Amino acid sequence: MNMRTKFTQRLAEIEIVPGTRTQLLTYDGMFPGPTFHFQANRTAVVRMRNQLDVPTSTHLHGGVTPPESDGYPTDLVRPQGTKDYTYPNRQRAATLWYHDHRMDYTAPQVYRGLSGTAIVTDDEDTNLPLPKDDHDIPLHVCDRAFNGDGTLIYPALVPGPGVQDAYGNGVLGDVILVNGAPWPVLEVNASAYRFRILNASNARRYEFALDPGADLVQVGSDVGLLEKPVRHRSLPAAPAERFDVVIDFSAYPVGTEVTLRNTLESGNLGQVMRFKVVRPGKAGFTVPDKLSTVSKPDKEVATRTFDFRAGSDDRMRMWRINGQMFDPNASLATPKLGTVERWRFTSDFHHPVHLHLAHFQVVSRSGRGPAPSDAGWKDTVDVRPYEVVDVLARFDGYRGRYMLHCHNLEHEDMAMMANFDVG
Ligand code: C2O
Ligand code: CU
Repeated sequence: MNMRTKFTQRLAEIEIVPGTRTQLLTYDGMFPGPTFHFQANRTAVVRMRNQLDVPTSTHLHGGVTPPESDGYPTDLVRPQGTKDYTYPNRQRAATLWYHDHRMDYTAPQVYRGLSGTAIVTDDEDTNLPLPKDDHDIPLHVCDRAFNGDGTLIYPALVPGPGVQDAYGNGVLGDVILVNGAPWPVLEVNASAYRFRILNASNARRYEFALDPGADLVQVGSDVGLLEKPVRHRSLPAAPAERFDVVIDFSAYPVGTEVTLRNTLESGNLGQVMRFKVVRPGKAGFTVPDKLSTVSKPDKEVATRTFDFRAGSDDRMRMWRINGQMFDPNASLATPKLGTVERWRFTSDFHHPVHLHLAHFQVVSRSGRGPAPSDAGWKDTVDVRPYEVVDVLARFDGYRGRYMLHCHNLEHEDMAMMANFDVG
Protein backbone atom coordinates (compact mmCIF):
# COMPACT_ATOMS: atom_id res chain seq x y z
CA MET A 1 0.00 0.00 0.00
CA ASN A 2 1.44 3.34 -0.99
CA MET A 3 0.41 6.44 0.82
CA ARG A 4 -0.58 9.44 -1.31
CA THR A 5 -1.41 12.60 0.45
CA LYS A 6 -2.01 16.17 -0.59
CA PHE A 7 -1.29 19.22 1.48
CA THR A 8 -1.79 22.88 0.78
CA GLN A 9 0.54 25.49 2.14
CA ARG A 10 -1.61 28.51 2.86
CA LEU A 11 -2.12 31.45 5.17
CA ALA A 12 -4.39 30.86 8.13
CA GLU A 13 -5.52 32.85 11.13
CA ILE A 14 -5.29 30.76 14.26
CA GLU A 15 -6.12 31.56 17.87
CA ILE A 16 -2.93 30.85 19.80
CA VAL A 17 -2.94 33.55 22.45
CA PRO A 18 -6.50 33.44 23.82
CA GLY A 19 -8.67 36.22 22.45
CA THR A 20 -6.35 37.07 19.54
CA ARG A 21 -5.72 35.73 16.04
CA THR A 22 -2.27 35.05 14.65
CA GLN A 23 -1.65 34.91 10.94
CA LEU A 24 0.56 31.95 10.12
CA LEU A 25 2.07 30.16 7.16
CA THR A 26 0.57 26.70 7.48
CA TYR A 27 0.30 23.23 6.07
CA ASP A 28 -3.45 22.75 5.53
CA GLY A 29 -4.44 25.56 7.86
CA MET A 30 -2.94 23.91 10.93
CA PHE A 31 -0.15 24.77 13.34
CA PRO A 32 1.76 22.60 13.89
CA GLY A 33 1.03 20.99 10.54
CA PRO A 34 -0.90 17.71 10.40
CA THR A 35 1.11 14.78 11.78
CA PHE A 36 2.37 12.59 8.93
CA HIS A 37 2.07 8.85 9.53
CA PHE A 38 4.44 6.77 7.48
CA GLN A 39 4.99 3.03 7.43
CA ALA A 40 8.62 1.88 7.16
CA ASN A 41 9.46 0.61 3.66
CA ARG A 42 6.23 1.95 2.18
CA THR A 43 6.73 4.75 -0.26
CA ALA A 44 4.66 7.82 0.47
CA VAL A 45 4.13 10.58 -2.06
CA VAL A 46 3.30 13.89 -0.47
CA ARG A 47 1.97 16.53 -2.83
CA MET A 48 2.62 20.07 -1.63
CA ARG A 49 0.63 22.87 -3.23
CA ASN A 50 2.04 26.26 -2.44
CA GLN A 51 -0.69 28.88 -2.10
CA LEU A 52 1.50 31.22 -0.08
CA ASP A 53 3.06 34.36 -1.51
CA VAL A 54 6.59 33.08 -0.74
CA PRO A 55 8.55 30.14 -2.20
CA THR A 56 8.93 27.05 -0.02
CA SER A 57 11.02 23.91 0.14
CA THR A 58 9.86 21.09 2.41
CA HIS A 59 12.45 18.94 4.21
CA LEU A 60 11.66 15.71 6.02
CA HIS A 61 14.20 16.01 8.83
CA GLY A 62 15.65 12.61 9.72
CA GLY A 63 14.24 11.08 6.55
CA VAL A 64 16.38 8.92 4.30
CA THR A 65 15.14 10.65 1.19
CA PRO A 66 16.35 10.83 -2.42
CA PRO A 67 18.02 14.19 -3.14
CA GLU A 68 15.26 15.50 -5.42
CA SER A 69 12.73 15.14 -2.57
CA ASP A 70 14.99 16.23 0.29
CA GLY A 71 13.95 19.87 0.39
CA TYR A 72 17.21 21.34 -0.83
CA PRO A 73 17.11 25.08 -0.06
CA THR A 74 17.13 26.21 -3.69
CA ASP A 75 14.76 23.46 -4.87
CA LEU A 76 11.87 25.85 -4.50
CA VAL A 77 8.16 25.48 -5.00
CA ARG A 78 7.08 28.90 -6.24
CA PRO A 79 3.76 30.47 -5.26
CA GLN A 80 0.95 28.60 -7.04
CA GLY A 81 3.36 25.75 -7.73
CA THR A 82 3.11 22.09 -6.74
CA LYS A 83 5.70 19.44 -6.00
CA ASP A 84 5.44 15.75 -5.26
CA TYR A 85 7.86 14.69 -2.55
CA THR A 86 8.64 10.97 -2.61
CA TYR A 87 9.51 9.36 0.72
CA PRO A 88 10.56 5.70 0.38
CA ASN A 89 10.83 5.47 4.21
CA ARG A 90 13.53 2.80 4.07
CA GLN A 91 14.36 3.34 7.72
CA ARG A 92 13.42 2.24 11.22
CA ALA A 93 10.44 3.52 13.15
CA ALA A 94 11.17 7.04 14.39
CA THR A 95 9.78 10.45 15.18
CA LEU A 96 10.77 12.83 12.39
CA TRP A 97 10.11 16.48 11.71
CA TYR A 98 9.02 18.17 8.53
CA HIS A 99 9.62 21.86 8.07
CA ASP A 100 10.38 24.55 5.55
CA HIS A 101 13.94 24.89 4.24
CA ARG A 102 13.79 27.86 1.88
CA MET A 103 17.21 29.31 1.15
CA ASP A 104 17.99 32.26 3.49
CA TYR A 105 14.45 32.20 4.93
CA THR A 106 14.17 28.91 6.81
CA ALA A 107 14.13 30.61 10.21
CA PRO A 108 11.29 33.11 9.57
CA GLN A 109 9.19 30.62 7.60
CA VAL A 110 9.44 27.94 10.27
CA TYR A 111 8.83 30.57 12.93
CA ARG A 112 5.70 31.67 11.07
CA GLY A 113 4.33 28.14 11.14
CA LEU A 114 5.76 25.74 8.54
CA SER A 115 6.58 22.90 10.92
CA GLY A 116 5.05 19.55 11.84
CA THR A 117 5.76 16.08 13.23
CA ALA A 118 6.12 12.93 11.13
CA ILE A 119 5.98 9.45 12.61
CA VAL A 120 7.41 6.37 10.95
CA THR A 121 6.18 3.08 12.35
CA ASP A 122 7.32 -0.48 11.75
CA ASP A 123 6.40 -3.92 13.09
CA GLU A 124 9.14 -3.96 15.68
CA ASP A 125 7.92 -0.72 17.23
CA THR A 126 4.23 -1.67 16.97
CA ASN A 127 4.83 -5.03 18.64
CA LEU A 128 6.66 -3.57 21.63
CA PRO A 129 4.59 -3.26 24.78
CA LEU A 130 4.85 0.53 24.89
CA PRO A 131 1.91 2.89 25.53
CA LYS A 132 -0.22 3.16 22.38
CA ASP A 133 -3.01 5.08 20.66
CA ASP A 134 -4.28 7.88 22.92
CA HIS A 135 -1.31 7.14 25.22
CA ASP A 136 1.20 7.88 22.44
CA ILE A 137 1.38 11.63 21.96
CA PRO A 138 3.74 13.86 19.95
CA LEU A 139 4.83 17.03 21.77
CA HIS A 140 5.93 19.69 19.27
CA VAL A 141 7.70 22.22 21.51
CA CYS A 142 8.73 25.70 20.38
CA ASP A 143 8.91 29.30 21.57
CA ARG A 144 7.42 32.37 19.95
CA ALA A 145 6.95 36.05 20.77
CA PHE A 146 3.69 37.91 20.18
CA ASN A 147 2.48 41.47 20.05
CA GLY A 148 -0.62 42.35 22.10
CA ASP A 149 -2.81 41.89 18.99
CA GLY A 150 -1.58 38.34 18.45
CA THR A 151 0.80 39.08 15.58
CA LEU A 152 4.14 37.33 15.74
CA ILE A 153 7.30 39.25 16.54
CA TYR A 154 10.23 38.23 14.37
CA PRO A 155 13.19 40.63 14.23
CA ALA A 156 13.84 40.24 10.50
CA LEU A 157 16.10 42.60 8.65
CA VAL A 158 14.12 44.59 6.14
CA PRO A 159 14.84 44.02 3.37
CA GLY A 160 15.91 40.48 4.20
CA PRO A 161 17.33 37.97 4.48
CA GLY A 162 18.67 37.78 8.02
CA VAL A 163 17.87 39.08 11.46
CA GLN A 164 18.72 42.31 13.20
CA ASP A 165 22.21 42.34 14.69
CA ALA A 166 21.08 41.88 18.28
CA TYR A 167 19.57 38.49 17.33
CA GLY A 168 22.64 37.00 15.65
CA ASN A 169 22.81 34.26 18.26
CA GLY A 170 19.28 33.15 17.43
CA VAL A 171 15.71 34.32 18.03
CA LEU A 172 14.06 33.35 21.32
CA GLY A 173 10.39 33.84 22.17
CA ASP A 174 8.88 34.39 25.60
CA VAL A 175 5.89 32.08 25.11
CA ILE A 176 6.34 28.30 25.09
CA LEU A 177 3.99 26.48 22.73
CA VAL A 178 3.31 22.76 22.88
CA ASN A 179 1.37 21.49 19.88
CA GLY A 180 0.61 25.11 19.10
CA ALA A 181 -0.87 26.05 22.50
CA PRO A 182 0.82 28.23 25.12
CA TRP A 183 1.72 26.25 28.26
CA PRO A 184 -1.10 23.72 27.76
CA VAL A 185 -2.56 21.40 30.39
CA LEU A 186 -3.06 17.78 29.34
CA GLU A 187 -5.45 15.64 31.34
CA VAL A 188 -4.02 12.18 31.84
CA ASN A 189 -4.98 9.09 33.75
CA ALA A 190 -2.66 7.61 36.33
CA SER A 191 -0.85 5.35 33.88
CA ALA A 192 2.08 5.36 31.49
CA TYR A 193 2.27 7.53 28.35
CA ARG A 194 4.68 7.73 25.47
CA PHE A 195 5.58 11.28 24.48
CA ARG A 196 7.52 12.00 21.32
CA ILE A 197 9.20 15.25 22.25
CA LEU A 198 10.48 17.40 19.36
CA ASN A 199 12.38 20.58 20.06
CA ALA A 200 11.00 22.56 17.11
CA SER A 201 12.35 25.90 18.39
CA ASN A 202 14.49 28.11 16.17
CA ALA A 203 17.22 28.58 18.77
CA ARG A 204 16.00 27.67 22.25
CA ARG A 205 17.54 24.81 24.19
CA TYR A 206 15.70 23.03 26.98
CA GLU A 207 16.55 20.83 29.91
CA PHE A 208 13.32 18.92 30.50
CA ALA A 209 12.43 17.69 33.98
CA LEU A 210 9.25 16.79 35.84
CA ASP A 211 8.04 18.57 38.95
CA PRO A 212 7.23 16.80 41.27
CA GLY A 213 10.16 14.72 40.18
CA ALA A 214 9.98 11.47 38.28
CA ASP A 215 12.09 9.93 35.56
CA LEU A 216 11.78 10.59 31.86
CA VAL A 217 12.44 7.12 30.50
CA GLN A 218 13.88 7.52 27.03
CA VAL A 219 13.02 4.76 24.56
CA GLY A 220 13.92 6.45 21.29
CA SER A 221 16.34 9.02 19.88
CA ASP A 222 16.16 11.19 16.74
CA VAL A 223 15.88 8.32 14.30
CA GLY A 224 14.78 5.24 16.15
CA LEU A 225 14.40 3.04 19.19
CA LEU A 226 17.24 2.70 21.65
CA GLU A 227 18.67 -0.69 22.49
CA LYS A 228 17.54 -0.31 26.06
CA PRO A 229 15.75 2.47 27.94
CA VAL A 230 17.76 5.34 29.43
CA ARG A 231 16.36 7.01 32.53
CA HIS A 232 16.83 10.76 32.80
CA ARG A 233 16.19 12.94 35.80
CA SER A 234 16.57 15.80 33.36
CA LEU A 235 16.99 15.70 29.62
CA PRO A 236 18.79 18.33 27.53
CA ALA A 237 17.28 19.03 24.10
CA ALA A 238 18.82 21.24 21.44
CA PRO A 239 16.83 22.51 18.44
CA ALA A 240 15.76 19.66 16.10
CA GLU A 241 16.48 16.86 18.56
CA ARG A 242 13.74 14.33 19.29
CA PHE A 243 13.38 12.30 22.45
CA ASP A 244 10.84 9.54 22.65
CA VAL A 245 10.09 9.15 26.38
CA VAL A 246 7.75 7.25 28.64
CA ILE A 247 6.30 9.02 31.67
CA ASP A 248 4.44 6.92 34.18
CA PHE A 249 1.82 8.93 36.07
CA SER A 250 0.67 5.92 38.13
CA ALA A 251 2.89 6.98 41.02
CA TYR A 252 0.93 10.24 41.37
CA PRO A 253 -2.36 10.42 43.27
CA VAL A 254 -5.38 11.53 41.24
CA GLY A 255 -5.58 15.32 41.38
CA THR A 256 -1.83 15.85 41.10
CA GLU A 257 -0.54 18.42 38.65
CA VAL A 258 2.81 17.55 37.19
CA THR A 259 4.78 20.29 35.44
CA LEU A 260 7.14 19.61 32.57
CA ARG A 261 9.83 22.16 33.31
CA ASN A 262 12.74 23.66 31.45
CA THR A 263 15.35 23.91 34.17
CA LEU A 264 17.51 26.27 32.06
CA GLU A 265 15.00 29.04 32.79
CA SER A 266 12.86 30.29 35.63
CA GLY A 267 9.40 31.86 35.82
CA ASN A 268 7.11 31.31 32.81
CA LEU A 269 9.97 30.26 30.60
CA GLY A 270 10.91 27.60 33.11
CA GLN A 271 7.58 25.88 32.40
CA VAL A 272 6.69 23.95 29.27
CA MET A 273 3.32 22.35 30.03
CA ARG A 274 1.38 20.59 32.77
CA PHE A 275 -0.14 17.16 33.09
CA LYS A 276 -3.18 16.87 35.30
CA VAL A 277 -3.82 13.40 36.66
CA VAL A 278 -7.61 13.31 36.54
CA ARG A 279 -8.51 9.60 36.64
CA PRO A 280 -7.11 6.40 38.04
CA GLY A 281 -5.38 4.28 35.44
CA LYS A 282 -3.47 1.13 34.89
CA ALA A 283 -0.53 0.86 37.27
CA GLY A 284 2.41 -1.48 37.07
CA PHE A 285 3.71 -0.59 33.64
CA THR A 286 7.38 -1.34 33.06
CA VAL A 287 9.32 -0.28 30.01
CA PRO A 288 10.85 -3.41 28.45
CA ASP A 289 14.57 -3.83 29.21
CA LYS A 290 15.29 -4.66 25.62
CA LEU A 291 13.75 -2.39 23.01
CA SER A 292 15.61 -2.97 19.81
CA THR A 293 18.97 -3.86 18.33
CA VAL A 294 21.15 -0.87 17.68
CA SER A 295 23.97 -1.93 15.39
CA LYS A 296 27.44 -0.49 15.86
CA PRO A 297 28.57 1.48 12.84
CA ASP A 298 31.30 -0.15 10.73
CA LYS A 299 34.88 1.05 11.00
CA GLU A 300 35.29 4.51 9.55
CA VAL A 301 37.03 4.88 6.20
CA ALA A 302 37.81 8.59 6.65
CA THR A 303 37.91 11.32 9.29
CA ARG A 304 36.87 14.89 8.53
CA THR A 305 36.69 17.96 10.74
CA PHE A 306 34.04 20.66 10.50
CA ASP A 307 34.56 23.81 12.51
CA PHE A 308 31.42 25.81 13.36
CA ARG A 309 32.37 29.38 14.15
CA ALA A 310 31.36 33.01 13.71
CA GLY A 311 33.21 35.03 11.10
CA SER A 312 35.02 37.94 12.71
CA ASP A 313 35.52 40.18 9.70
CA ASP A 314 31.93 40.76 8.65
CA ARG A 315 29.93 43.92 8.77
CA MET A 316 26.93 41.79 9.52
CA ARG A 317 27.82 38.74 11.58
CA MET A 318 27.79 35.58 9.50
CA TRP A 319 28.30 32.06 10.77
CA ARG A 320 30.71 29.74 8.99
CA ILE A 321 31.74 26.11 8.61
CA ASN A 322 35.49 25.64 8.10
CA GLY A 323 35.74 29.36 7.53
CA GLN A 324 33.28 29.34 4.65
CA MET A 325 29.84 30.77 4.27
CA PHE A 326 27.33 28.55 2.46
CA ASP A 327 28.01 28.32 -1.25
CA PRO A 328 25.44 26.20 -3.14
CA ASN A 329 28.11 25.37 -5.72
CA ALA A 330 30.75 24.12 -3.30
CA SER A 331 30.97 20.82 -1.48
CA LEU A 332 32.93 20.22 1.73
CA ALA A 333 32.99 16.41 1.62
CA THR A 334 32.48 13.48 -0.73
CA PRO A 335 31.69 10.39 1.34
CA LYS A 336 31.13 7.15 -0.58
CA LEU A 337 27.74 5.49 -0.53
CA GLY A 338 27.61 2.64 1.95
CA THR A 339 30.58 3.78 4.04
CA VAL A 340 31.02 5.12 7.55
CA GLU A 341 33.07 8.24 8.29
CA ARG A 342 34.15 9.89 11.50
CA TRP A 343 33.00 13.50 11.46
CA ARG A 344 34.45 15.78 14.10
CA PHE A 345 32.63 18.97 15.00
CA THR A 346 34.33 21.85 16.77
CA SER A 347 32.67 25.09 17.75
CA ASP A 348 32.74 28.47 19.43
CA PHE A 349 29.14 28.43 20.69
CA HIS A 350 26.16 26.09 21.03
CA HIS A 351 25.59 24.69 17.56
CA PRO A 352 23.11 21.85 17.06
CA VAL A 353 24.73 20.16 14.05
CA HIS A 354 22.41 18.30 11.67
CA LEU A 355 23.19 16.03 8.74
CA HIS A 356 20.70 15.33 6.01
CA LEU A 357 20.41 11.69 4.87
CA ALA A 358 23.12 10.24 7.12
CA HIS A 359 22.33 8.93 10.57
CA PHE A 360 25.10 8.82 13.13
CA GLN A 361 26.14 7.76 16.61
CA VAL A 362 27.93 10.11 18.96
CA VAL A 363 31.19 8.49 20.06
CA SER A 364 32.93 11.18 22.08
CA ARG A 365 32.68 14.67 23.52
CA SER A 366 36.05 16.35 24.02
CA GLY A 367 37.74 13.00 24.53
CA ARG A 368 35.17 11.76 27.01
CA GLY A 369 32.35 9.36 26.30
CA PRO A 370 29.00 10.53 24.91
CA ALA A 371 26.34 11.99 27.24
CA PRO A 372 23.38 9.82 28.31
CA SER A 373 21.17 11.92 26.02
CA ASP A 374 23.41 11.08 23.02
CA ALA A 375 22.29 7.42 22.99
CA GLY A 376 21.18 5.69 19.81
CA TRP A 377 21.10 6.72 16.15
CA LYS A 378 20.76 10.43 15.68
CA ASP A 379 20.67 13.12 13.00
CA THR A 380 21.34 16.15 15.21
CA VAL A 381 23.93 16.61 17.93
CA ASP A 382 24.28 19.57 20.26
CA VAL A 383 27.87 20.77 20.01
CA ARG A 384 28.51 22.94 23.05
CA PRO A 385 30.91 25.90 23.20
CA TYR A 386 34.51 24.86 22.55
CA GLU A 387 33.58 21.20 22.55
CA VAL A 388 34.98 18.62 20.13
CA VAL A 389 32.28 16.10 19.23
CA ASP A 390 33.01 12.97 17.20
CA VAL A 391 30.25 11.06 15.43
CA LEU A 392 30.33 7.98 13.23
CA ALA A 393 28.03 8.69 10.30
CA ARG A 394 26.70 6.10 7.88
CA PHE A 395 26.16 7.36 4.34
CA ASP A 396 23.43 5.04 3.21
CA GLY A 397 20.47 5.23 0.92
CA TYR A 398 21.10 7.53 -2.02
CA ARG A 399 23.85 9.21 -3.97
CA GLY A 400 23.68 12.92 -4.51
CA ARG A 401 23.98 16.30 -2.89
CA TYR A 402 22.95 16.69 0.73
CA MET A 403 23.80 19.16 3.44
CA LEU A 404 25.04 19.61 6.93
CA HIS A 405 24.22 22.72 8.88
CA CYS A 406 23.65 24.29 12.23
CA HIS A 407 20.02 23.86 13.29
CA ASN A 408 19.94 27.08 15.18
CA LEU A 409 17.79 28.39 12.33
CA GLU A 410 19.15 31.92 12.47
CA HIS A 411 22.69 30.52 12.19
CA GLU A 412 21.53 28.39 9.28
CA ASP A 413 20.11 31.38 7.44
CA MET A 414 23.29 33.30 8.23
CA ALA A 415 25.27 30.86 6.10
CA MET A 416 26.22 28.11 8.59
CA MET A 417 25.46 25.41 6.06
CA ALA A 418 27.48 23.29 3.63
CA ASN A 419 26.98 20.64 0.97
CA PHE A 420 28.36 17.15 0.92
CA ASP A 421 28.11 14.81 -2.05
CA VAL A 422 27.48 11.13 -1.55
CA GLY A 423 29.13 9.31 -4.46
CU1 C2O B 1 15.70 20.18 10.08
CU2 C2O B 1 18.32 20.89 7.00
O1 C2O B 1 16.98 20.58 8.54
CU1 CU C 1 24.80 27.44 15.23
